[in-house]
Amino acid sequence: MIDRFIMTQRIQKTVKVWSVATRLFHWSLVASVATAWLTSDEFRSAHELAGYCALGLVAFRVIQGLIGERYARFSQFVRSPVHTLKYLGSMARGREARYIGHNPAGALMVLALLVTVFGTGLTGWMQTTDTWWGIEWVEEVHEVLANSLLVLIALHVAGVILASHRHGENLVRAMVNGKKPAPGSGDIG
Ligand code: HEM
Ligand code: HEM
Repeated sequence: MIDRFIMTQRIQKTVKVWSVATRLFHWSLVASVATAWLTSDEFRSAHELAGYCALGLVAFRVIQGLIGERYARFSQFVRSPVHTLKYLGSMARGREARYIGHNPAGALMVLALLVTVFGTGLTGWMQTTDTWWGIEWVEEVHEVLANSLLVLIALHVAGVILASHRHGENLVRAMVNGKKPAPGSGDIG
């Protein structure tokens, strides 16, 4: 009875991890990238607008990563290659620790997504300038990056589902309401 009471208390206790700014950033980026993809064939001005929104969001996130709140800071979640490799090893053994912010693999994915969105937006913009318009490699790089983005997004969503499953929490809901279950023993905050 007491055990159950303690467990209920633990399950109910949450910590605020993602600020309103981070959550708005995330879902706006999802909307911008999805719109850019869906308009790439026929709706050029909508495509460019969505692409510029994505670029603006990446710029915002870089500033937030430098001077934003605790869990948004790069210094909080970007880990060394050795730390990340060890984490991936423990993941393969099914024994990885729970992180309250981004875990090391998630952090790597965050960086890959930000860099790839930036590169896609940049090469898109380049095609609107006199200097780079009509240059074939710029078009090709834009296309390759846009396709790589799809692969990364699929891996990103798979990672989110896997981590949610492993630690018995709903990371998607956390990206909606900002809250995660409070750290237990062995969790890394
Ligand atoms: C266009 C597609 C997407 C892009 C470009 C994207 C990008 C990102 C980025 C940059 C972050 C880091 C957030 C931050 O620290 O500010 C992130 C985190 C996250 N994303 Fe996405 N995302 C996409 C789609 C999705 C979808 C469809 C879902 C839901 C299934 C999702 C769920 C999450 C969650 C739960 C986190 C936090 C992970 C954690 O707890 O460490 N994302 N995403
Ligand atoms: C995250 C942002 C973006 C994504 C995901 C994206 C994605 C795509 C995709 C999938 C294509 C079709 C490639 C093909 O099959 O030829 C395309 C083409 C194009 N995009 Fe983007 N794009 C983005 C941003 C931008 C921006 C910011 C601009 C310009 C301001 C832009 C300008 C163009 C142009 C001019 C083309 C046509 C290239 C051609 O005819 O080969 N894009 N984009």
